[in-house]
Amino acid sequence: MDKLRISGGVPLAGEVAISGAKNAALPIMAATLLAPGVHRLRNVPRLRDTQTFARVLELLGAKISFDGNLLTIDTHTVKSVEAPYELVKTMRASIYVLGPLLARFGQARVSLPGGCAWGPRPVNLHLTGLQAMGAKLDIEHGYIVARDVKLRGATVSFDVVSVGATAQLVMAAVLAQGTTVLENVAIEPDVTALGEALVACGARIEGLGSRRLTIHGVSALRPIDATIIPDRIEAATFAAAAAMTGGRIRLLGVVPEHFEAALHKLEEAGCAVERGVDTVAVSGPARPSAVNVVTQPFPGFPTDMQAQMIAVCAIAEGTSVVEDTIYHDRFTHVQELARMGARIELKGNVAVVNGVRHLSGAQVMATDLRASASLVIAALAAEGETLIDRIYHLDRGYEALERKLSALGARVARVR
Ligand code: UD1
Repeated sequence: MDKLRISGGVPLAGEVAISGAKNAALPIMAATLLAPGVHRLRNVPRLRDTQTFARVLELLGAKISFDGNLLTIDTHTVKSVEAPYELVKTMRASIYVLGPLLARFGQARVSLPGGCAWGPRPVNLHLTGLQAMGAKLDIEHGYIVARDVKLRGATVSFDVVSVGATAQLVMAAVLAQGTTVLENVAIEPDVTALGEALVACGARIEGLGSRRLTIHGVSALRPIDATIIPDRIEAATFAAAAAMTGGRIRLLGVVPEHFEAALHKLEEAGCAVERGVDTVAVSGPARPSAVNVVTQPFPGFPTDMQAQMIAVCAIAEGTSVVEDTIYHDRFTHVQELARMGARIELKGNVAVVNGVRHLSGAQVMATDLRASASLVIAALAAEGETLIDRIYHLDRGYEALERKLSALGARVARVR
C-alpha cells in the first residue's frame, strides 16, 4: 500500500494551479444521464473518485473517454439502470445517479451506500424528496428499487441543508412534469454549478444561489458542455499549508469567494491574504494564533476544512475550539495528530486544541480524505520525518498532490 514520506520544516513557497472540484464534477457527471447525447466536461480532476464515477456510468452503458482533464461522456447507449453495491460502497456520490435514472427511464436499482468512517450519513432526504415527486421507492436486498415512475413537480422543504439531497432533487426536477419548489436548499458553489450547467442545456431553474429554487420541468435537455469550477477545498488546503509552514503560496485559477470563510479564519490566525480576481496569495505568520471554528453549510466554514484547520490550530499559540456541526464523528485525524505531539481533547463534536510550538514527525495512518490532508499539512510543518500510511484516501480527492507540493519546495515522496 502506498505511503507518503514527508520531511517537514520547509516553508512552502511559490505558485500552485488549483484543479477542478471533485464535488462539482460528480453531480454534473451524474446529470449527463438526463440527456442522451455526447457531453463534454472540461477541467475534470483526474482522481480516483471521478474515475470510479466514470466506471458507474460505464456500467450503466455510457461510453467514456478522458483526454487530460476533458471528459467526454456519450450517454446515447445507456441501457442499464443498476448501480451495484461494489461501486456505491466505495463512493457514496454514486447515489446521484438515482434522480437522473428516474427522470429519464422511470426506473432504477441503486445500492444504498451504507455507513461511513465518520458515522451515519443518511440519504433519507434524497428518498423522501423523490417520493414527494411521485416515485414509489422500495428497499430490496440493500437496493433502492423503483419501477414505472413518472416524476411530477412538488414542493419539498428540507429540514436540514443537504448538498447531496439538493443536487439529487434538482436533477430529478428538471425533467419532471410541472413545477418543483425546493426550500432550504444548499447553496454550496457545487450545487450552483450543477444548476448553471443544466440551465445552459435547456433546464428552467429560478433562484440559483438562493435558499429557494423553482424548477419548471422541460421535456428534454441538450447535452452538457461545462467547465468544472475550481476546487475550493483543495485551494483552502494549500492556504492552510502556507499558514502552517510560515510560507507564501499563490493559488492560481480560483474563485476567492468560494472559500472566503476559510480565508477569513486564516487571516484571524495571523495569515496575510491578498485576493485577486482568480488568484489568492496566502502568507503564513511565524506562528499562527489560536482561532475558534464552527463548521456550517456554505457560506460558513466548510466541514471539509475542519481537519486541516485543526492541524493549523495544533501549532497555534493559545487554545482553539473547533466544532463540527455537520458531521459529529468526523474526528479520526485527532488521534493521529496526537501521535505527532498535538494536544487535542475531544468532547463530542468539539475539539479543544491546545497549541504546541512544534509537532514531531511520526508514523501515522490516513483514515479518510480530509483527515489525510490534515496529516499532510501537519507533516509539512513537523520536525523530522512523517510516514503517512493508506494514502489512497488522498488519491480520492487531491490531484497530483506530491507534484504540486514538491513544486512548492516540500520534501515529499510516495513510497511502497
Ligand atoms: C457534506 C457537506 C459537503 C461536503 C461533504 C463531504 C455540508 C452542508 N455538506 O455533504 O460540503 O463536501 O459532506 O465531506 O456541509 N443529511 C440527512 N439526510 C440526508 C442527507 C443529509 O440527514 O438525506 C444530513 C447529513 O447527515 C448532514 C447534513 O444533512 O448532517 C448535510 O448533508 P449533505 O450536505 O447532504 O452531506 P454531504 O453531501 O455528505
